[in-house]
Amino acid sequence: MNLVQGYEAVCVFVNDRIDKTTLKKLSENDIRLVALRCAGFNNVDLEAAQEFGIKVVRVPAYSPGAVAEHAVALILTLNRKTHKAYNRISENNFSLEKLAGFNLAGKTVGVIGTGEIGSVFCRIMLGFGCNVIASDVHESQTLKQSGVVYKTFAELLGESDILSLHCPLTPETHHLFNKKAFKKMKKGAMLINTGRGALIKTKDAIDALKTEQLGHLGIDVYEQEEKLFFRDLSEMIIPDDLIARLMSFHNVLITAHQGFFTREALDQIASITLQNITDFEQGKAIKNEVTVN
Ligand code: NAI
Repeated sequence: MNLVQGYEAVCVFVNDRIDKTTLKKLSENDIRLVALRCAGFNNVDLEAAQEFGIKVVRVPAYSPGAVAEHAVALILTLNRKTHKAYNRISENNFSLEKLAGFNLAGKTVGVIGTGEIGSVFCRIMLGFGCNVIASDVHESQTLKQSGVVYKTFAELLGESDILSLHCPLTPETHHLFNKKAFKKMKKGAMLINTGRGALIKTKDAIDALKTEQLGHLGIDVYEQEEKLFFRDLSEMIIPDDLIARLMSFHNVLITAHQGFFTREALDQIASITLQNITDFEQGKAIKNEVTVN
């Protein structure tokens, strides 16, 4: 069934692959606008969109706090093991055995990408009493004044007890965390990824977990998530051996791309997306257009 026939715009989400083939088909069906209901746009071939005369819009900052707070939730859960305590207590097991965590105050937290989400995350971690260090191609003066210290990526790897990824997925950041990067991390450090799955090379993360070089891994995004996330596969055999291996580690926590999923963020996504489409429909300047450069 051709769902796009008779329409000028399509509305897509984070795991819809809008590649050249898709865009060509959309263009042949007179689609002129792709409206993303998300902030990241790595799933769209912007050059092809330009070639076919299709505009692309996104929702740049619907609720940075929603994602930043989810990153903190992953840290707190991995560290204080509340998910394990919950399961234990539901079975009348009140033992504290193996539930010890560590104090966040005084620990060094490295933040990669201090844009909308990274900035909120930095402020939350400063509130916990952490030393917050960061790397970004653009340094924020406001964050510096709040106590964030900018360093190189290599310095972040070597100094951080916890690392959190808040940069976009680009050719430069693809597999930023690979074998080489894991080797340079502090032994036993925690890595949190609420950015995009392919910022981490999963195979190398598994190796780092096996050698205990990586102490904890919390991910809300995964390289091959488009085949898994947002679906109930409870009665299926998972064909992806990498995620199955990740799920087998006691010190790995996976959520299925729910960082954005708060009532406030959903309201913002809906209203900004409708505004983007209305601006396009009325021929107004489109504030949230994404272009090649
Ligand atoms: P943003 O554009 O405000 O900030 C991204 C920051 O990363 C910018 O300051 C940029 O200069 C920096 N950056 C770019 N390349 C870098 C590099 N090589 N090293 C260090 N920093 C670099 O984006 P925002 O809104 O903060 O979102 C960040 C990412 O979070 C998005 O690209 C998206 O992939 C992800 N995201 C995840 C969600 C989830 O539900 N888990 C929801 C929304 C966004």
